[in-house]
Amino acid sequence: MQHLLFTHSILRWAILLFGIWTLLNAITGVFGNRKYSPTDNKINLFFMIGCDIQLVLGLILYFNNGWFDMLKNSTKDVMKDAGMRFFAMEHFLMMLIVWLLVHVGRSMVKRADTDAKKHKKSLIYFGIAILLILAMIPWPFRSTDIARDWLPKL
Ligand code: HEM
Repeated sequence: MQHLLFTHSILRWAILLFGIWTLLNAITGVFGNRKYSPTDNKINLFFMIGCDIQLVLGLILYFNNGWFDMLKNSTKDVMKDAGMRFFAMEHFLMMLIVWLLVHVGRSMVKRADTDAKKHKKSLIYFGIAILLILAMIPWPFRSTDIARDWLPKL
């Protein structure tokens, strides 16, 4: 389980790299009137694949590291404790929304009929997803019961 947590923690950096790259592509696309290129498509595909793997790892951690049992058996205590509430509820639910946004976003981009619309949809869907990811990562500067290291220890 320690290896899965290690991978989940490292993979955040790949997701942030491709997520922010995707967002920059959308911004330069919208404001620079650029064509929607195969590179734009490839970078947001990598972003989506990262989120898919992260979801699978996250679900395994969620059900195997006792977060779900904690929530099921002592809901009140979990809700009162900011650290437990973060992993048992907030991180889990918000990252699920991120995953949905990225998938719906990619299909909206695919369906849009002009390059300008493709960039605009990218900016909206992937932009919100990135903001939620940044808000929901347990950064080292969060309160001590939520904070995790910049890089995981094995
Ligand atoms: C973009 C998506 C996600 C990112 C960037 C992300 C990032 C992280 C990070 C950085 C940690 C701390 C790891 C450490 O201790 O060093 C963590 C922990 C955790 N994540 Fe995620 N996560 C994502 C999605 C998810 C999803 C979708 C789930 C559940 C379905 C999930 C469940 C968990 C759980 C349960 C932990 C705590 C593991 C433990 O300490 O037992 N994550 N996540």
